Amino acid sequence: MKITTIISALAAAALVSAGKFHIPKDSKAELQSNGYIIQYHDNVSRTNAHANLKKHAIDYKIRNEYDVFNGAAITVNSKHGGDALAAVPGVKHVWRIQRYSLPKTTSNGGGKVDEASSVHHMTGVDAVHKKLKLTGKGVKVGIIDSGIDYKHPAFAAPGATEGCFARYGKNCRVKYGWDLVGDAYTSFNTPIPDGDPMDCRGHGTHVAGIVGGNASNVKVGPKPLVPWIGVAPDVTFGAYRIFGCEGFTSTDVILAAMEMAFNDGMDIINMSLGGGSAYKENPTSVLADKLVSFGMNVAGAAGNDGTEGVWMVSDTGLGETSTSVASFDNAYGAYYTVSYAGGKYPYNFASAWGKAIDLPASATLVPLFDKAGVLLDGCDAAFYNGIDVKGKVVLVLGDYTRCGSAARGAIAKTAGVAGLLAATTPFGMTNLAGAPGLPMASIENRAGEALLAAYKKNPKNALTWSKGPSSVKVEGGGAPAEMSSYGLDGDLRSKPDIAAPGGNIYGAYPRSLGSYALLSGTSMATPYYVGSQALYYEKTKSKPSGPDVRRVFKNTATISKNFNSKTYTSAAKQGAGLINVWNALTTTTHASPDRFDLLDSDNFRGVQKITIKNIGKKTETYTLSHVVADALNSYTKKNAWPHPKPVIEADYATVKFSVNKVKIPAGKSVKVTITFTEPKAGNAAQFPIYSGYVVATPSREDSPAVHVPYIGLKGKVRNVPIMDTDLGLPQLAVQKENGDVEELPASGKVDWSFKKAAPAIFVRFASHTPNFTIRIHDAKTSKFLGYVVSGSNVALGQNGRMTNLNDGEPSVNKYDWHGLVLPTEDLSTKPVQLGAGSYKIYVASQRKLTKGAYPGDFEIFDLGALDITA
Ligand SMILES: *[C@@H]1O[C@H](CO)[C@@H](O)[C@H](O)[C@H]1NC(C)=O
Ligand SMILES: *[C@@H]1O[C@H](CO)[C@@H](O)[C@H](O)[C@H]1NC(C)=O
Ligand SMILES: *[C@@H]1O[C@H](CO)[C@@H](O)[C@H](O)[C@H]1NC(C)=O
Ligand SMILES: *[C@@H]1O[C@H](CO)[C@@H](O)[C@H](O)[C@H]1NC(C)=O
Repeated sequence: MKITTIISALAAAALVSAGKFHIPKDSKAELQSNGYIIQYHDNVSRTNAHANLKKHAIDYKIRNEYDVFNGAAITVNSKHGGDALAAVPGVKHVWRIQRYSLPKTTSNGGGKVDEASSVHHMTGVDAVHKKLKLTGKGVKVGIIDSGIDYKHPAFAAPGATEGCFARYGKNCRVKYGWDLVGDAYTSFNTPIPDGDPMDCRGHGTHVAGIVGGNASNVKVGPKPLVPWIGVAPDVTFGAYRIFGCEGFTSTDVILAAMEMAFNDGMDIINMSLGGGSAYKENPTSVLADKLVSFGMNVAGAAGNDGTEGVWMVSDTGLGETSTSVASFDNAYGAYYTVSYAGGKYPYNFASAWGKAIDLPASATLVPLFDKAGVLLDGCDAAFYNGIDVKGKVVLVLGDYTRCGSAARGAIAKTAGVAGLLAATTPFGMTNLAGAPGLPMASIENRAGEALLAAYKKNPKNALTWSKGPSSVKVEGGGAPAEMSSYGLDGDLRSKPDIAAPGGNIYGAYPRSLGSYALLSGTSMATPYYVGSQALYYEKTKSKPSGPDVRRVFKNTATISKNFNSKTYTSAAKQGAGLINVWNALTTTTHASPDRFDLLDSDNFRGVQKITIKNIGKKTETYTLSHVVADALNSYTKKNAWPHPKPVIEADYATVKFSVNKVKIPAGKSVKVTITFTEPKAGNAAQFPIYSGYVVATPSREDSPAVHVPYIGLKGKVRNVPIMDTDLGLPQLAVQKENGDVEELPASGKVDWSFKKAAPAIFVRFASHTPNFTIRIHDAKTSKFLGYVVSGSNVALGQNGRMTNLNDGEPSVNKYDWHGLVLPTEDLSTKPVQLGAGSYKIYVASQRKLTKGAYPGDFEIFDLGALDITA
């Protein structure tokens, strides 16, 4: 059914090849049927564009029109597809409208709250507030999100007790904004804009609070558990609401919001969204680039796929002008505590319990441990045999590989315990679901060990539960967050760029949803960076370009270590390091470029130049040095799929400078040549990613050192596996009419009348490829016949790495094939329907950093021959 419309659409496109229709490569991206974004050529007016569409008999309805972008979002009622639209004169680009969701954040029951002044201590924002008295005054920040609860006291103007929105009040911090969609919008229905950007969802309010909320002294209205303040508490907000109370949003709405923010004069927006993978040519990026060229700034999150391993940094911050922001966990938190044998330990109560634990002194501790004295996980009821746990608090190991917290909670309850503590593995305090009615909490790993040791000395110690939270340094805090994604990107560029606090951030939440919440995610790190930019603008009284600000923040970030590590974390995880706003605002030195991409052994760019500029008032002498960081090895087992947790190795590059010390007069700059040598250590066949920092330290102590990160890959990146073969893919199978998949018949013969079974090709992308193809050749003559066309997808073009699992199942891309092929790489040519015959199928992916000559530059899998009987 779909096939016929595609044929006619592509046939029309073949007549005139004016614009370009961007075929979505991600089969998971949910598309809106008949919805398209079109961009006109710069010299084409709206009126002319509409006249041209009508002339081509396209029956459509306008959803939105865009000025800066020069285009429109339309719903097409006639049978025309994207290629037909692309063929209309004056049309430059056509995209399908895509859905976007809000990035996932993790939230916790509310038992622990972070102390906002501590999060600012990690980044120097506390000193910027106190000593420089900077608060982002006069800077406008657009929040393109789920709206803002502008009545929240954290958004009250100075002197006021309650926030407001300028359309309904005066002197409001939320001065601009619009609800582009309405409460009921899910992206499956029609937006009903109403102008009121009140947040019914939470995400936008929390993000705005991080940028510039102020709950340091709330007198009226809901009070926070602990006072906190945002990064730039005097910025002016624009709230552009693009989400309803539930569901998704879509490209047409995002574009409209970006234009509105631009027209309202916003200085900074950050609007990267979770959802299908974005491409550099996607419409939001095209518009973002345009807005950046007009002086606006755009930041994006690195992504929350840190447990997937390398090559996962999210596309949203990959642009040359945009910033990809990684996340660190907050170093401090205010937690309820339990005291035992002279020690005081923070705990994080389970959400099923939902409040502080308050048990009598008779509820003493009983650890469950084995003969070797090691804590047990509490997953087997038999552990409890012969131990008296009635009315006691049991301590178990929080290793959730065998059973969850609900299951072990239920077992403990049956055994009659009064409460349960689980020592987190490997460290920190996990969020537990828990079992209903059971006081249960996670404690830090080190707390578990301390309690066990104290118990072994004296089993009679009592547990004392605190009445309120207190501030503690958190195990694992102040370090890169585990969930923050690793780079590099498919061109071996060093991304993410920089990190900001995003784990365990306490802040504003809509009053209707509890007023305050503790959330974690790179979504929380991005607004921290945005707020810091606002402070920088206020300080410099100018608006430097996005890339220039990015460079200053990268130069001055704090190079950090993983929790309990003695060595620095890879630059492919932390970028230039944790943002240090004090240093960024007080530095008297600039170093450029802001990263060195050394690439792989084949393309090694070992000789680089760093320009050091003295922007201070006095002549300065700089000493150059080199700091090494962890190398990441993801292929120690001849695996195609990268390890979810890269192995850390000491493969260090060496660095020589043309001079080791330079004297630079005020206002002048000097270029120094740097010669890198690849690490001696490290197995090139396992492609270790090594990294480090080149540092320029001024002799005066009041100006911070500046640095530039570098990253390289030892070995030939062209040999890095692209297709995952660990699971036996790529594979050819047969998809039946009802959707079931079965193996190819032994005869190799398939009957493919359209309605019946069709061959299907299954692949998993283990790393990026600049050009993925599925090629069909004639089995007898070997003649190339074309690229597989599957539904609205052509197997031709770039692809990023996939996540390992999707809804708990291994992620797999499927191309079911009904005989349609695209005979050339030109997307506007007409697909050809093949008939009965004998065909060979090849899955061929261009290797990274190659020119793309076929077959030499491709990783090729021969899936065998297929005999098609018509
Ligand atoms: C408009 O721009 C397009 C693409 O840049 C160009 O091909 C065309 O000649 C221009 N037309 C006019 C009327 O300037
Ligand atoms: C900033 O980006 C994050 C994700 O990167 C997004 O969740 C958030 O809504 C954006 N915030 C603003 C200020 O628009
Ligand atoms: C935050 O709010 C409090 C209470 O209204 C006020 O005293 C304080 O000056 C504000 N801080 C900043 C930096 O705006
Ligand atoms: C992808 O590879 C094919 C086969 O070599 C080639 O014809 C096509 O031009 C390539 N496309 C891109 C975008 O590089």
